Formats: sequence, structure tokens, C-alpha cells
Amino acid sequence: MATEERSSPAAESVAPARGKLGVMVVGLGAVATTMIAGVEAVRRGLAKPIGSLTQMGTIRLGKRTDNNSPLIRDFVPLADLKDIVFTGWDIFEDNVYESAAHAAVLDKETLGKLKPHLEAIKPMPAVFDQFYVKRLNGTYVKKGKSKRELADQLIEDIRAFKKTVERVVMIWCGSTEIFMEPSAVHKSVENFEKGLLANDAGIAPSQIYAYAALKEGVPFANGAPNLTVDIPAMVCLSKKNAAPICGKDFKTGQTFMKTVLAPAFKARMLGVQGWFSTNILGNRDGEVLDDPESFKTKEESKLGSLEYIFQPELYPDLYKKLYHKIRINYYPPRGDEKEAWDNIDIFGWLGYPMQVKVNFLCRDSILAAPIALDLVLFLDLAKRTPGLRSIGIQEWLSFYLKSPQTAEGLYPEHDLFIQSMKLKNTLRHIMGHDLITHLGLDYYD
Ligand SMILES: NC(=O)c1ccc[n+]([C@@H]2O[C@H](COP(=O)([O-])OP(=O)(O)OC[C@H]3O[C@@H](n4cnc5c(N)ncnc54)[C@H](O)[C@@H]3O)[C@@H](O)[C@H]2O)c1
Repeated sequence: MATEERSSPAAESVAPARGKLGVMVVGLGAVATTMIAGVEAVRRGLAKPIGSLTQMGTIRLGKRTDNNSPLIRDFVPLADLKDIVFTGWDIFEDNVYESAAHAAVLDKETLGKLKPHLEAIKPMPAVFDQFYVKRLNGTYVKKGKSKRELADQLIEDIRAFKKTVERVVMIWCGSTEIFMEPSAVHKSVENFEKGLLANDAGIAPSQIYAYAALKEGVPFANGAPNLTVDIPAMVCLSKKNAAPICGKDFKTGQTFMKTVLAPAFKARMLGVQGWFSTNILGNRDGEVLDDPESFKTKEESKLGSLEYIFQPELYPDLYKKLYHKIRINYYPPRGDEKEAWDNIDIFGWLGYPMQVKVNFLCRDSILAAPIALDLVLFLDLAKRTPGLRSIGIQEWLSFYLKSPQTAEGLYPEHDLFIQSMKLKNTLRHIMGHDLITHLGLDYYD
């Protein structure tokens, strides 16, 4: 029987994507509004979903000679874009049209065509505390005596939205919070719940949203580098309530390039002595990251990738002395049109030095929006997949993330090509298809 015809028990058990998928977005800023407007533009046939693997990607099934590469969205039961309904929270009262106009990622003409739809999406008041994002001062916020009360108000929001749709997913597209390390309050659900009542400073607003989502069995993706769900209490809740989680930090511009180039140098056993990365950006994200405490969160998230890819302990001659430096500079004239420079000092045969320069003139939110969409669609798929829904962290989604969350004791996989293979093999696996190993010896029998 040909591979594509095989119907396995696993394939039958992934539940279909029936009805509306409700997407609750925390933070209706540049990334979120670019995703929401983009989905609407695609639905109306005004544009193509470029950059979205779920919408444009194919997956090879069986042997190369089978010529069987369906679209991913035809292979796994993903929610159709026409069935997505967005809602969200923000600390500013602007509707999605106003916020998108402020972010100035999409041009006025495109936004004008989508105006009635975007204007109708109005945020709910947020859970916010300036202690965790120093550069913002929001006025449209919920009030409560304790963090527990705030969590309960979010749970009410979720329950009300659930009544209008079939399934719900939540994604954090909010600002980067200050750097926080895991502490006792994060160790267990019990500690966390006590902390909510006691207003423990170790609980950031993003964690109150995540808690509310997971309590309600709603999958949660973290697009920022905040600690948020990367703590034992959230992993435990995620497993208990069959609410898949993933994070952290959308892998968009510079880190995306890093996780392409670094594996190439390593594959060829070329040494790297230094890697200097600098950026200018002028959007609100850039303004928030201008605060040292938020920058530290981002820096940690960006720094990890090279260390893990190069494995200096295995290749001391090549990578032990690597000097890695990252700078993010807030420069308002550029808005969302970030520019990134990388100077890479490499060395080859007999230690002779060479340099690689990368100058990426990217649009941050144009790169991030399809990632946010894919994460939402794949988390919804995970929730409907018996083999994935109760495992907690969805490591197969590392492909999209700068600082992938993994099971305790496991180092994260940063190499984009390994991540891509892992993602596609997970899809083959849940649909009961053979995994592709790229061995290919059978062609030469
Ligand atoms: N733009 C990218 O390419 C990119 C890439 C990787 C990660 N990220 C991360 O994604 C997040 C969003 O980026 P952006 O460019 O859209 O930023 P943005 O500043 O345009 O949007 C963030 C929004 O979140 C809101 N917000 C902040 N705290 C909130 C809270 N507690 N509750 C509800 N809303 C809250 C802000 O008011 C703002 O509207 C940031 O953390 C950023 O670091 C962005």
C-alpha cells in the first residue's frame, strides 16, 4: 500500500477542526495587529499568507519517488482562516484599526480596506503593572485587591468568549517584561496559587494570563522572552488540564539568521572567534527594550542560541573562545523597519581568519505575524491530538522560537533545520505516517 493511502489509528484520533477557533491575544500592538489584519486580508483574497508554513508549506510523504507533497494544511486538520475569531486585551483602549495605524507596519491603503473589520475588535481591559514594564503607563487596566482577583477576572473573560466559539487559544504578544528568575512561588501550582493571593512580586502579569488560560484548559503560546510559562507550576497545569504550551520569543530577524548561519559553520567545522550583533529599531517594542531591565530579558533570550548550536565543550578548538555581543538600540525614525548588522569573525584551515557581514533590513512585525498565526493554529492542533495535548511543552514548535522551552534537563535545539525536521516529523507521526530520516539507501539497492 502506498504511504499516502495508509490510514492508521493515530490518524483517526486527531479530532477535526470543527467550528470557530477563538484566538485571545494579549497585547494588541504591532505584531498582533499585523497578524489580525493579515488574516483578514488573506480571507478577502487581497494578499497571500507569505511566511506562514501552515498556509503555504508542503510536507513530503513517503519516498522521493512517490512525488507526494501535500500542503501541510491539507495533511493535518488545521483550523481554516475563515473560522478564526480574534479578541484580546491591551492597556490602551485603541481598537485594532487604531492600534495598527499607530504601529504603522501596514500601509494606510491596506488598513483602509480592512477598517470596519478591524475597528470592531476592541480590547478588554488588561492586567498590568508598571513594575514589570517600566516604559509603559497603561490606563485601561483591571482593578483587583489581589493577583488572584485579577486572574479570576481574566477567567471570566475567557469563559464569556468560550460561549461564542468552539475552541480557544491564547497567545502573548504583549511587551517584554523585566528579567525574572524562577523562584519558590513558581515551583508548584500550590505555591503559585498562594502567591496569587499574597500578591507575590514573583508573579508577573503575563503569568496571571497564562494561569487563567491553563486553568481553563486553553493552550498558551509566549511570543516574548518573559519567563511566563517556563516554570514548573505552569508545566504542571498545562499537563493536568491538557492545555499545550510553548515559548519563548518569536524567532524573527537576527536570531533567525543566526540559527541558519551558525549550523552551517559548524557543519563545515569552521571556527568562530566573535559574533557581534547590533540593531536599530524605533517601534514601541524598541522603546520598551530601551529599559535595561526589559533589555536583559531579551538579551538572555538572544544569547542562548549560539552557545547551544556550537557546543564549545565538544569543539573547544573551534568555539571555546567565541565572544558574542548583542546590542539593541532604540532609534525612533526607523519605526518597525528594523535594521540589523552582524559581524562574524570566523577562521578556517590552519586557523586563517575570515569575516562574514550580514546586513538585514527587515520588518519586524511582517516576520513575526505569520509566526504568531502558525503557533496559534498548531497549538489548537496539539489540543486536538491525543498524543500531544497532555505532554505540556510542545518542543516541536521550537522552529518558531528564539529561546525554546524544553523539558527539564534537556538542552534546547536551536538549529533551524533540525527544528524544521522535528516539526514536520511530528506532523507525520501524529498522522500515522512514516518519519523521514533522509537515509535514502533504499534508492541504491
Ligand atoms: N516584532 C517582532 O518581530 C518580535 C519578535 C520577537 C518577539 N517579539 C515580542 O513580541 C512582543 C510584542 O511585540 P510588538 O512589536 O507587537 O510590541 P508592541 O509594543 O507594538 O505591542 C505590545 C502591546 O502589548 C501591550 N501590553 C503590554 N503589557 C500588557 C499587558 N500586561 N496586558 C495586555 N497588553 C499589554 C502594549 O500596550 C502594546 O500594545 C514583545 O514582547 C516583543 O519583544 C516581537
